[in-house]
Amino acid sequence: MTTVDKSAPRVRKMFGEIAGRYDFLNHLLSLNVDRYWRWRTVRSVPPKSGMKILDVCTGTGDLALAYHRAAGGQAEIVGADFCHEMLVLGRQKSVKSGANGAVNFVEADAMKIPLEDDQFDIVSVAFGLRNVAETDVGLAEMVRVCAPGGQVAVLEFSSPEWQPFKAVYGWYFRNVLPRIGQLLARNAQSAYNYLPESVGQFPQGEQLAKRMRTAGLSEVWYRGLTLGVATLYVGKKGEPHVGKKANRDRKGPERIKKK
Ligand SMILES: C[S@@+](CC[C@H](N)C(=O)[O-])C[C@H]1O[C@@H](n2cnc3c(N)ncnc32)[C@H](O)[C@@H]1O
Repeated sequence: MTTVDKSAPRVRKMFGEIAGRYDFLNHLLSLNVDRYWRWRTVRSVPPKSGMKILDVCTGTGDLALAYHRAAGGQAEIVGADFCHEMLVLGRQKSVKSGANGAVNFVEADAMKIPLEDDQFDIVSVAFGLRNVAETDVGLAEMVRVCAPGGQVAVLEFSSPEWQPFKAVYGWYFRNVLPRIGQLLARNAQSAYNYLPESVGQFPQGEQLAKRMRTAGLSEVWYRGLTLGVATLYVGKKGEPHVGKKANRDRKGPERIKKK
């Protein structure tokens, strides 16, 4: 099996080519279930008034805007993506929905987020982490900008396990979806062949949960959605360990005296 090319120029170009048809195809190919998955994400990791929320790989901003609505416009939301064409559409949607100003769109690579440590109460990503060239670097960056006590939510496609649905869905996902996608959103990067290939090679279930723990999250849980077609993963960034910090802050000589 050849490894999927997830180099930044290729991925950025691919999403740039399909940006104009991205939302339409998302809703069509998932029969609108993608809206439900984002709604479940927002409901499972709910916003509160005054929170700061970062949605990475935000694309045209659907999850960022869902957070804006759920917070009744009372949260400070940033949507980050490295594809300019997707962000242009996100900004347009934000203006149209009246969220303009409350949702800030930033052009940024998820592997090098140009934002300070420890500041967001929720850091989310929907159908984006799979495209990031180095999953662990992307996760580490999400954890870095998350505030202690905050939550990281990853919504991603997965492969259903339950037969006979697994076989039927697998056939649709590998044969029908790429053909419709390529036909309706012609692009040189084979974006809709890339989709099943990248899902097939991405860690899922316990494998991804383990990577999230390694990135520094605790209390990690995950739940399959729609018979496992997508999975929501959630983890918490721990509070700094008071004892450890106090020890670190203590001066050398005092520590020696206490022996
Ligand atoms: C499948 S779309 C998902 C968009 C949106 N989150 C949604 O729920 O529809 C993946 C997005 O991830 C972005 N992306 C992929 N790799 C990225 C990276 N390293 N840094 C920033 N954005 C990235 C792409 O530009 C694209 O907009």
